Amino acid sequence: MSDGDFEGYGGRHVPEPLAEPLEQLATAYDDIKETEGFQRELDALLEDYAGRPTSLYHAEGLSERYGADVYLKREDLLHGGAHKINNALGQALLAKKAGKSRLIAETGAGQHGTATAMVGALLDLDTEIYMGEKDVERQKMNVFRMRLMGAEVNEVTRGGAGLSDAVDAALEDFAANIDDTHYLVGSVVGPDPFPRMVRDFQAVIGEEAREQFRERTGGLPDAAVACVGGGSNAMGLFHAFRDDDVAFYGAEGGGEGAGSKRHAAPLADGADGTIHGMKTRVIGDDVEVHSVSAGLDYPGVGPEHAMFRAVGRCDYRAVDDEAAKAAFRELSEEEGIIPALESSHAIALAKELADEHDTILVNLSGRGDKDMEQAAELFDLN
Ligand SMILES: Cc1ncc(COP(=O)(O)O)c(C=O)c1O
Repeated sequence: MSDGDFEGYGGRHVPEPLAEPLEQLATAYDDIKETEGFQRELDALLEDYAGRPTSLYHAEGLSERYGADVYLKREDLLHGGAHKINNALGQALLAKKAGKSRLIAETGAGQHGTATAMVGALLDLDTEIYMGEKDVERQKMNVFRMRLMGAEVNEVTRGGAGLSDAVDAALEDFAANIDDTHYLVGSVVGPDPFPRMVRDFQAVIGEEAREQFRERTGGLPDAAVACVGGGSNAMGLFHAFRDDDVAFYGAEGGGEGAGSKRHAAPLADGADGTIHGMKTRVIGDDVEVHSVSAGLDYPGVGPEHAMFRAVGRCDYRAVDDEAAKAAFRELSEEEGIIPALESSHAIALAKELADEHDTILVNLSGRGDKDMEQAAELFDLN
């Protein structure tokens, strides 16, 4: 099979009506990705619109507290507040060039929906976002932001009313409107070409970080750590380091903790299965998908991560809600940087790894502004 095969994971496991449009998308992507014009246009938008390059920050206070040198790749500084814009710009530009007039997207934490609303406004594409009712409730600010930028937000009430159900709704829309619509998938998930395309658009994170780290220290970090929902910020960080002697760690949403039946950790605690058009690792039927962070609340994961797990390239660990909440406060207090609840899982894992590694590069995938209302409740700050 094509590039969409990750040693048996991935593929294009879709109903007949989606096979042809996905093939067309894969061809369009393969044709355009290397062209100088496309890359130049995308690079200009990443720089002037999104705010790249993002900085690499040596978090001295946190390093002292944790007992290892912690460096943060500051994707939280991007326009919109998270890494999602890297991928949204790439796919929207591709959609525009392919003659599409409409974007649809799923969103959990609302960051990808926000990024899609931004690029829809920027490139003059009609935009519709699917979001689970549960997430609309805990990420109200992002819903307002999407609507302000002209996107329609559809509340999804079926199933568990979360991210997975929003993906189902978006896939149905895509199948019904393939002529004018591009489904702007928000992570390295779904059928081919999405996992490899989203990875390529996010790879800028690791490419910059590797350069910056070498310039700063003359070497490479001992470990690279990122949180894993679908897995796009993690794969974006890891890709440039994959042939280096750098240990990879992925922090999944461990929910209520070890042994619980409420978590979002398909790599640490799942099984092989097929979901949303891809073969990957999925959470079992006996587990309720749960994480304190909406962006990690997903029962599957990108197929390339399933491969990394199978071949032992990356160690995936479940980080529970309590550990993530503690890290959220520690980074805020030590550095004056409020992380997204998703990214707090990566910070918590860096703390756990401080005994094993001297220098740890953490991808700070997003900022915590969207989580303020939830944080006020979690920490009784009123
Ligand atoms: C800030 C932030 N980090 C991480 C994620 C998880 O997505 P991914 O695993 O694709 O990076 C999200 C998803 O919404 C997010 O908003």
